[in-house]
Amino acid sequence: MHDIPEYTKQYLALRNGQDKPQIWIAYKGLIYDVSESRLWKNGKHYEHWAGQDLTHELKDAPHTQAVFEKFRVIGRLI
Ligand code: HEM
Repeated sequence: MHDIPEYTKQYLALRNGQDKPQIWIAYKGLIYDVSESRLWKNGKHYEHWAGQDLTHELKDAPHTQAVFEKFRVIGRLI
């Protein structure tokens, strides 16, 4: 349970592709590092921004949560 780091909303918010080099997004309590994705360049993905919990926005996407499979979980959102 406690083997992955925990980060606050505020900490996540700075990893938005604008303020710091890291680009992180949260989905269902887990934080993914999408810094290497061409589709999240500068923290923007279609009309969505990184650095936040996008759990409820996935329903607007033309894809499922399977898109997260290739990304590493780097933490848990608290
Ligand atoms: C209008 C809303 C959205 C559109 C049009 C959109 C579109 C796309 C497209 C076309 C891809 C390419 C791969 C695929 O289709 O499987 C993709 C990948 C991805 N999307 Fe979205 N998406 C949207 C919303 C979201 C949201 C809300 C999230 C997060 C909860 C998300 C997370 C991702 C991730 C992590 C990938 C994989 C990126 C990669 O492989 O480099 N998307 N999206």
